[in-house]
Amino acid sequence: MKNSPEVLPEQGRPVATMSGHWLLAKLGKRVLRPGGRELTRRMLEAADIAGSDVVELAPGLGHTAHEIVQRGPRSYRGVDTDPNAVAQVNAKLGLDGAVVHADAAATGFAADSADVVFGEAMLTMHGDRAKHVMMAEAFRVLRPGGRYVIHELGLTPDGLPDDTKRDIQRALATSIKVNARPLTNAEWRALLQSAGFEVREETRFAPMRLLQPARIIADEGLGGALRFARNVLRMPDERGRVFEMRKTFSAHREALTAVGIVAVKPAAPAER
Ligand SMILES: C[S@@+](CC[C@H](N)C(=O)[O-])C[C@H]1O[C@@H](n2cnc3c(N)ncnc32)[C@H](O)[C@@H]1O
Repeated sequence: MKNSPEVLPEQGRPVATMSGHWLLAKLGKRVLRPGGRELTRRMLEAADIAGSDVVELAPGLGHTAHEIVQRGPRSYRGVDTDPNAVAQVNAKLGLDGAVVHADAAATGFAADSADVVFGEAMLTMHGDRAKHVMMAEAFRVLRPGGRYVIHELGLTPDGLPDDTKRDIQRALATSIKVNARPLTNAEWRALLQSAGFEVREETRFAPMRLLQPARIIADEGLGGALRFARNVLRMPDERGRVFEMRKTFSAHREALTAVGIVAVKPAAPAER
């Protein structure tokens, strides 16, 4: 990975309104997904990257992109709606232009051109209609038999009452300043199926512990965790936001979970 100066997204925005993930990035956090590096690792294994044409939706700061490239895909491409993120991943990977500034809902990539579409902590940021459109786009870009692998925020159990779901969504929107809409496992799977996918494998789960000390050390390493803690201590406005997010995650820890799902674009039926 190349060492490039980081130009993080949203740094001109007031701390009070920054999206939670970019606020954490400003403080030095690099892993911005609910199930951490461990669930990413499990999903990369399941994706079967080596020798595949891979598209990543929303690579963000490019840490998973780096892991994908290390696994020896035949090709790597990505899209992100944040121009700073796009510039940063391209510089970091040294793959000029591999990541383009585009929406996951309309990537501009050719139909049937990928074996794997990989996306983490992105669908959750959108409502159900938008999620469906992005899933349909992943379906279009994949070849028959291709794998769409997601790592997102989930709710548990499947029968969670609707008013509890609404309370959690409101609390997340207030604290992370993103209209996060996590779904239950059954809802994620049903949405993937409604976009044409088959979901043959069990969902992989991981606890949602993004801001718990043990997880921060596991994700960032001891040095990264110390740098994050130091930044939190010396930046009072940012610290207030982090504590608020942590309080929300803790208050709803029984219901919040990370989910990893592998969906498959069915092979075209054989011609008679
Ligand atoms: C929480 S970050 C996750 C980044 C990265 N996947 C990770 O796990 O570290 C969300 C990312 O999604 C991107 N994003 C949000 N909506 C998008 C969309 N409609 N199309 C493409 N990227 C999007 C953001 O710019 C940001 O980089």
